Amino acid sequence: MRIGILTGGGDCPGLNAVIRAIVRKSLAQHGDEVVGFRDGWRGVLDADTVTMDLRAVRGILPRGGTVLGTSRTNPYALEGGADRVLANLERLGIEALIPIGGEDTLGVATKLAEAGLQVVGVPKTIDNDLDATDYTFGFDTALGVATEAIDRLHTTGDSHHRTLVVEVMGRHAGWIALEAGMAGGATVVLIPEQPFDVDAVVAHCQHRFESGYSPIVVVSEGASPKGGELMLATGEMDAFGHVRLGGIGTALASLIEQRTGREARAVVLGHIQRGGTPTPFDRVLATRFGLTAVDAVHDGESGVMVALRGTDIVRVPLSQATAQLKLVPPERYAEVEVFFG
Ligand code: F6P
Repeated sequence: MRIGILTGGGDCPGLNAVIRAIVRKSLAQHGDEVVGFRDGWRGVLDADTVTMDLRAVRGILPRGGTVLGTSRTNPYALEGGADRVLANLERLGIEALIPIGGEDTLGVATKLAEAGLQVVGVPKTIDNDLDATDYTFGFDTALGVATEAIDRLHTTGDSHHRTLVVEVMGRHAGWIALEAGMAGGATVVLIPEQPFDVDAVVAHCQHRFESGYSPIVVVSEGASPKGGELMLATGEMDAFGHVRLGGIGTALASLIEQRTGREARAVVLGHIQRGGTPTPFDRVLATRFGLTAVDAVHDGESGVMVALRGTDIVRVPLSQATAQLKLVPPERYAEVEVFFG
């Protein structure tokens, strides 16, 4: 077969492991040809391709980012974009497409499958917010980075008797904040799913100072105060209509400083959470996703996504995966609340 692959949306540790697994399995076991599209859907729109042979994937397993490049291009936001995608794929003789991406990339994949293309999706995102899979690869690496940052900030906070506010990514889902906050022993964890009470946050910080230690506040970029607006650094939107988040950490730090009367500083982890070497968990998950995607293609399946259920890799309808976001349930937040203050 002639199989197309692409990576779309934000880069994510483990993307190269998926690419490698797809190429290794399809070439070795099926004698397929694999065509890579550069920079996500942009590469399909422009028929910008690269041959993915064994040489192209040598040494990429532990590397972060994506050797194919990525973009947030949305063919459905461009006039005639979807038709151009379908026409280019036909002209290039692509019989099946494996898009590796999050909610947005897989949303495009869902529509293309409905239009008759054979599509098998692979979920990725550090946010872990895709429904229908227990975990997405990339999350574990981001969690490790955020936890290490919190561990390091505890010592600086305690030495300087100041509050440190750590802003983490996650968009509208608080998974990174929740789990890094729990793993790193944060004083308070603030997530988008639970609008926070500023007075309560200040009280937790004060209590922490009274006990002789300095507070660490972990705030997800999408968190907001009760009855308040998102505190956005910019109002910019991407091609999928998502507003660029960020800024709450700094706003919160200045509020906490005013209210506690002690210095408070913000640390924004940003893209550090997405870069660098994937953890072994993410490499293994990404590799297993890639292998199963090739199986699904050769089984003639379409409109499906590979997913993790418990310890098994399964195939689920793409439409189910992108129908709604997987948010942090209240009972999971209640677990971390026990440690506040
Ligand atoms: O979806 C992954 C993610 O890192 C989000 O956590 C974050 O809001 C967004 O991407 C940032 O996107 P960009 O790198 O395009 O600014």
